[in-house]
Amino acid sequence: MICCSIAARTKEHLLDEMSHIKFNASLVEVRMDSLMDAKPEDIKEIIAKKRKPVILACKGVEKKICLGLLKKGMEEGAEYIDLDLDYGEKTIKEFIKTKKDTKIIVSYHNNENVPENIQEIYEKIKKLKPDIIKIACTAVSLSDNIIILDLLKKSKADNIDMIAHCMGPKGQLSRILNVPFGSFLTYGYLNQPTAPGQISCDYLKKVYRVDRLKPGVNIYGLIGNPISASRSYIVHNLAFKEHELNAVYINVELKDLKELDLLKHLFSGLSVTMPFKESILTYLDHVDDRAAKIGAVNTVVIKQGKLFGYNTDWTAALDTIQEKIQIQDKNVVLIGAGGAAKAIAFGIWKKRGRLTIINRTEANGKKLASSLHVSLKKINEIDWEKVDLLINATPIGMAPRVHDSPVPRNVLRNMVVFDTIYNPLITKLLNDAERNRCPIVTGIKMFINQAAQQFEFWTRKKPDKELMEESVLQYVVDH
Ligand SMILES: NC(=O)c1ccc[n+]([C@@H]2O[C@H](COP(=O)([O-])OP(=O)(O)OC[C@H]3O[C@@H](n4cnc5c(N)ncnc54)[C@H](OP(=O)(O)O)[C@@H]3O)[C@@H](O)[C@H]2O)c1
Repeated sequence: MICCSIAARTKEHLLDEMSHIKFNASLVEVRMDSLMDAKPEDIKEIIAKKRKPVILACKGVEKKICLGLLKKGMEEGAEYIDLDLDYGEKTIKEFIKTKKDTKIIVSYHNNENVPENIQEIYEKIKKLKPDIIKIACTAVSLSDNIIILDLLKKSKADNIDMIAHCMGPKGQLSRILNVPFGSFLTYGYLNQPTAPGQISCDYLKKVYRVDRLKPGVNIYGLIGNPISASRSYIVHNLAFKEHELNAVYINVELKDLKELDLLKHLFSGLSVTMPFKESILTYLDHVDDRAAKIGAVNTVVIKQGKLFGYNTDWTAALDTIQEKIQIQDKNVVLIGAGGAAKAIAFGIWKKRGRLTIINRTEANGKKLASSLHVSLKKINEIDWEKVDLLINATPIGMAPRVHDSPVPRNVLRNMVVFDTIYNPLITKLLNDAERNRCPIVTGIKMFINQAAQQFEFWTRKKPDKELMEESVLQYVVDH
């Protein structure tokens, strides 16, 4: 279940927000502590006007005021009230004794970390016999999410309803996975987060489909650092929805690859991005020959804790290019020698294109060129009249520096031009090429192809690539 948490400063604002919660949440949490000068009479109106079952919560302001409001909430028929463990055993027991139909949530919050004695805290709340135990702690590392998910497993075994998640940006994994791990609900927001790291109800429902995820969910995700710009979670979650799979895709920012140990018994597959595409090779149990030759892995399949690495960038780039031009015996100029360029260069080499590499740092360019026995040149050494295909595999032209291009417009004549960048969709390079009547290939096609091939590796099913492209285009346009 998704619970929409609202922290409004005025009653009018609160009632307005409550009226806007429609399909994306089944419950609403009203944070009474954020309401200025909240009075017990306000509770009556709030409960009378609610359209969804309500959780009343109040903490962080004077204890006496909070308890008065929560008591009134019980009298007026709030479905749930949330009592902080800090209110003390005596008070909590009193509430439990006098309640009628209201369910009591007893909660523990920690804004610093997941404390070492979290099990003891769980047991302490359990002894009070509330209807629901709630634990919300700030994650300082990925492992904190695992501790909280394990606690949910324990509550299942104890046959106790529990709400648990980690707060903060490092806790998002638990906010998505808690429901299939048995949490009674997960909190989201309508317009503004009410706690650090909270995800919008819209995203919880439409992108992650948390209310459709079941125990035994197959978990996939992107590992990298940073990863906030990646849109992979949009396309993969859409494809899971299309195939009605009990699966979810989550971005996981890793400090370093040692954290893979935590993921390999939880996840079924990974996408890999900067800066780990090359360094991950030493962590894998098996590497596909072609990925090994490229020296980079962007796809990991996980089976029984064993990691199998593949590269879908090179096939994705080839499929994309070959919609416009056959590569064999064509003169191809590739700008860049990083992760994307290595995969593309391998594909061009495999298809017997005549490849020339240009790169800012000569040593990096040399390394790539010599590994495939192709030539490395400077930009002013290229005979542009003979070029059939030009590929940009650098970030030159990527947002926000959208007015940059790796080559002057006048060299773009009678050639296919492919830019791996997909934000913006049409880079300056592609715009110049179009104006010079050169056929163009956009980075979005490669992005969708590499994601679609990852999806097939993981699920053995084909996703609808058009749908994937539409969703990501929508996202690029919206943001
Ligand atoms: N469409 C897709 O599916 C897809 C997939 C992967 C990547 N990409 C795109 O490909 C591009 C490169 O990504 P990557 O993963 O290969 O990155 P990377 O490994 O960091 O490599 C970056 C490359 O660009 C060069 N470079 C960076 N900044 C430059 C500048 N200001 N001037 C000249 N050269 C510069 C670097 O040259 P040095 O050797 O001198 O550092 C290096 O060759 C990005 O724009 C990314 O969005 C697209």
